[in-house]
Amino acid sequence: MNYDNPRLIIDSSNPPEPDRITWRSPSNIAIIKYWGKYGDQLPRNPSLSLTLASSLTDMALEYSLKETPDNTINLDFYFHEEANDAFKTKIVAFLEKMTPAFPFLRQLDLTIHSGNSFPHSAGIASSASAMSALALCLCSLEDKLFGTLKDGDAFDQKASYVARLASGSACRSIFPYAAVWGETSSVPGSSNEYAVTAEDFLHPVFKNYHNDILIVSSDEKSVSSSAGHALMEGNPYADARYAEARRNFDDLLLALKKGDLEAFGAIAEKEALSLHALMTASVPSYTLMQPGSLAIIEKIRAYRKDTGHPVCFTLDAGPNIHLLYPEDIIAEVRGFIEEELLEHCEDRHMQQDWVGEGPEEL
Ligand code: PMV
Repeated sequence: MNYDNPRLIIDSSNPPEPDRITWRSPSNIAIIKYWGKYGDQLPRNPSLSLTLASSLTDMALEYSLKETPDNTINLDFYFHEEANDAFKTKIVAFLEKMTPAFPFLRQLDLTIHSGNSFPHSAGIASSASAMSALALCLCSLEDKLFGTLKDGDAFDQKASYVARLASGSACRSIFPYAAVWGETSSVPGSSNEYAVTAEDFLHPVFKNYHNDILIVSSDEKSVSSSAGHALMEGNPYADARYAEARRNFDDLLLALKKGDLEAFGAIAEKEALSLHALMTASVPSYTLMQPGSLAIIEKIRAYRKDTGHPVCFTLDAGPNIHLLYPEDIIAEVRGFIEEELLEHCEDRHMQQDWVGEGPEEL
């Protein structure tokens, strides 16, 4: 797959009006985890995520034709209305990398205003929502200037491809409800290069499933995701893990279709614990779970046993617990969180989230 297109050059004798494009894009939570990659952000196994509704990035991209042409990427970057050089440097490097696909970026003065619906450093990963929002802005800009992405599926595919290059799991945030990233014979059309919708696999019970994020710690992770992926290369369990992920993936598809909450929970928890076991087994070994994460996990297991309620958990690459449950038991579960789980959270902090309808252009 190659999106390089040297013809996407603005005719400077007919310049576009300065304008702005704004997207709101969500985070996603993987139930089958992507952990281990090769080449340029290609996954070692297929993953499946639920698209979230309340953990969002709003991003506005302003553009105008440069008055004096040069070959640079000219970007001003504001995060919550403050200039942010660290983010700017990363985004400029990414835009440089993407210029074969979007050569017109060098012809424009660009300004990005970005902000999240959740506090920065809240322990909620923002790369999926932010990088999917950026990819959507770039594809909308291309379409606005050249009319090349009118077809919705072609637009989504390119946006997902671009998001993947910015931050692997971000490619799954483009789609409503659920997405699959990574080639598998179980999902026709699936690819390592972009995600595809998994909406058709979902029993209605999953379309408004809850995913409350219990913030055990908002500290910066001791080992980043990219370092974690890299450590999979020397991990003695890596091959067994990739095979396990494929089995879990197929089992999860069945559970999603049937609306089998018990099977869904068993697979979600197995995946989360495998992910953290792989971290423990990496050389050098590291641990991202904290005592509070384990205390919450034990309480969720006990609550499920005592009440029979189908609550389960997952974790991403961090200490925070994502509590998953269906809408019909929200009152009971929120009571359980309040009474038993918030005491293990930093400042009793939780972000209520649920499965959502995907990105929207504002
Ligand atoms: O997209 P990255 O490189 O931040 O990696 C994400 C890894 C996990 O969140 C642990 C799993 C996943 O599939 O999202």
